[in-house]
Formats: sequence, C-alpha cells, structure tokens
Amino acid sequence: MLGAGHDVGIGVHVVGFGEHAHHSPERAEDAAAARIATSSDYLREVLAEVPVLVIGAISATEAELAGNQAGLWGSLLPAAWSLALALRARGLGTTWTTLHLRYEREVADLLGLPADVRQGVLLPVAYTKGTDFRPGPRVDLDSVRHVNGW
Ligand SMILES: Cc1cc2nc3c(=O)[nH]c(=O)nc-3n(C[C@H](O)[C@H](O)[C@H](O)COP(=O)(O)O)c2cc1C
Repeated sequence: MLGAGHDVGIGVHVVGFGEHAHHSPERAEDAAAARIATSSDYLREVLAEVPVLVIGAISATEAELAGNQAGLWGSLLPAAWSLALALRARGLGTTWTTLHLRYEREVADLLGLPADVRQGVLLPVAYTKGTDFRPGPRVDLDSVRHVNGW
C-alpha cells in the first residue's frame, strides 16, 4: 500500500461514472448507477482536498497480467477492503475508486513507481462528517442469486 498526500503533489483528474453510464430510468440498477454517478461527480470535485489518498498496488509480471486475473487481483483487493473496514472502525471514511486508473501511468510517474507495480484501487481517506450511516439500497436477493446453475 502506498500512502500519497498533497506533499507529493498528486493531482489526479478523476473521471465521473456519469460520463460513462448508459442507463434508462426504468431499471432498478439504473437508480443505483445514477446515485453512484452523482456521488463520483462530487468526489471528482473534492478529491484534491482529501487529506490522504491510499493507492493499493501490486508488483506483477507481464505473464501474471495476462494470466489468472482472480488470482492476481485477489492478492491485493482484500487487503484494501480490510483497510476500508479498519478505517470505518476508527471514525474515518473512504470510498472505493478506480476511475483514476485511466491515468495510471501518469500517477505512477508522479510517485516514481517501478514499471511492474500496477495500481488496483485508490482509497481517498478522511474523517467523515458525522457517523449517521444507513445501509445502501440493495436489489432483491432473489434477482441476483443462482443456485446449482445460472
Ligand atoms: C470496482 C469499483 C470501482 C469504483 N470506482 C469509483 C470511482 O472511481 N469513483 C467513484 O466516485 N466511485 C467509484 N466507485 C463507487 C464508490 O465506491 C461508491 O460505491 C459510490 O461512490 C457510492 O458511494 P456512497 O454509497 O457512499 O454514496 C467504484 C465502485 C466499485 C465497486
């Protein structure tokens, strides 16, 4: 994990989901997509003010990058998720972001990352405004659960 803050002069232009999302308002997932688009547009506006940006990164060979993706990224992403949970337990907040990866090379150059180090997630970290969190909306489990076949 790499911690990067303003002191290293990181200035990432994060592209909002709203610029990519194609959704019709009838579908339930589209309400969630629209919510994420609004949220990610806001994050793009404030990202440069976030005190700490944590980038989860892993060293990977070309063969690994062309091989089993679940094995490769499964070696990194659970650690980032554990960090997100640990932050939450300590009154800090984060949100899972990947859209900066369009500029992965530029970020790597800014931070001096070796060419074989690949970024998998960026976690902006800050204290939250209050602790009044609620569960996010979820689609009905039966609509996504498959038993003994798809
Ligand atoms: C794989 C993945 C990548 C994501 N990348 C971004 C991102 O780059 N920027 C962003 O704002 N949200 C991104 N999100 C969505 C956020 O993690 C979060 O779900 C969304 O901003 C809604 O946050 P909220 O529930 O706190 O409103 C991503 C989610 C996933 C699962």
